[in-house]
Amino acid sequence: MLITGAAGFVGRHVAVGLRQAGYVVRCLVRPGSVRRLPRLAGLEIAAVDLRAPQAVLAPALAGVRVVVHAAGLRAQRPWRGETFAAVHVDATARLVEAAEAAGVERFVLLSCLGAAPDSDLAYLRSKAQAESIVQQSRLAWTVLRCGLIYGPGDGRVTRLARWMRWFGRTPVVGDGLFLVQPIAVGDVVAGCVAAAAGRLEQRTLSAGGPDVLAFRDMVELLAAAIDRRLPLLRIPVGPARLLAAACRLSGVIPWTADELQVMMRGYTCDPREYYEAAGLVRPLPFSAAVRAYLGPS
Ligand SMILES: NC(=O)c1ccc[n+]([C@@H]2O[C@H](COP(=O)([O-])OP(=O)(O)OC[C@H]3O[C@@H](n4cnc5c(N)ncnc54)[C@H](OP(=O)(O)O)[C@@H]3O)[C@@H](O)[C@H]2O)c1
Repeated sequence: MLITGAAGFVGRHVAVGLRQAGYVVRCLVRPGSVRRLPRLAGLEIAAVDLRAPQAVLAPALAGVRVVVHAAGLRAQRPWRGETFAAVHVDATARLVEAAEAAGVERFVLLSCLGAAPDSDLAYLRSKAQAESIVQQSRLAWTVLRCGLIYGPGDGRVTRLARWMRWFGRTPVVGDGLFLVQPIAVGDVVAGCVAAAAGRLEQRTLSAGGPDVLAFRDMVELLAAAIDRRLPLLRIPVGPARLLAAACRLSGVIPWTADELQVMMRGYTCDPREYYEAAGLVRPLPFSAAVRAYLGPS
């Protein structure tokens, strides 16, 4: 089993979930990110940048039967060669080719709700292109189109809760009426485990959580989970975007400018097919889940 992005939020949870399901797990990480891998016995490490040529990727795929591709960019940094085109599209194409050459059986791609080849947002276009590369490959494939994923260690919802504790405010972007459908990371891991076992082959599934919430209701639930009654802080869309762009991945703002744009489109889905396929009987409701792991401080 090879997991890309294994030092990232979702990849770390997937690595742990697959290891606990009994798989031999190899984590593909950029050399500088090895220290952020989960501390878990028996994880193999392939320290490679996915933008490397196929020949450099090949050893990471030796002996691998399933690839879970959870690497991705939250923001572009063109001056470092980190663009959606380079990482989501070109690197996925090389990884798929290398996987085909190595005799990999299955390929699982983490994509997102709203991915579309004709989207006006570069992020969503690049995810759609990645989907199509995977779907047209010779491998058995699964595409999981996820809504906002949250859980311990995420850089969005959890960071927002931390921000709320620091600043004593509940921030609402714009009118806060755009919809979100947050899904607990454990419920995404369940899908990856099912896909790794071959139960979701040749399927593109929309993985949203059980609650469709207006953004402002989501932050209210978050405030309740950390047990605070916090005054609202309204942030107009323009300044929110500027701030997110200026702070990029600094961690000060929970969303990058690209993520904010995608989120504000309010993509939701009917996740029942996903739950059924992944064997998820009780997907976690947002309120109970964040209360359980964020709790009052
Ligand atoms: N989180 C969500 O709400 C959400 C929702 C829908 C879909 N998704 C998708 O799920 C996947 C994982 O998201 P996430 O939240 O876990 O993001 P994340 O925490 O930013 O993790 C992404 C990982 O990808 C790695 N990566 C980026 N460029 C790479 C490269 N050139 N070579 C090797 N690794 C590279 C990063 O490595 P470094 O650690 O070295 O930077 C990082 O560890 C992404 O594809 C994302 O589009 C996420």
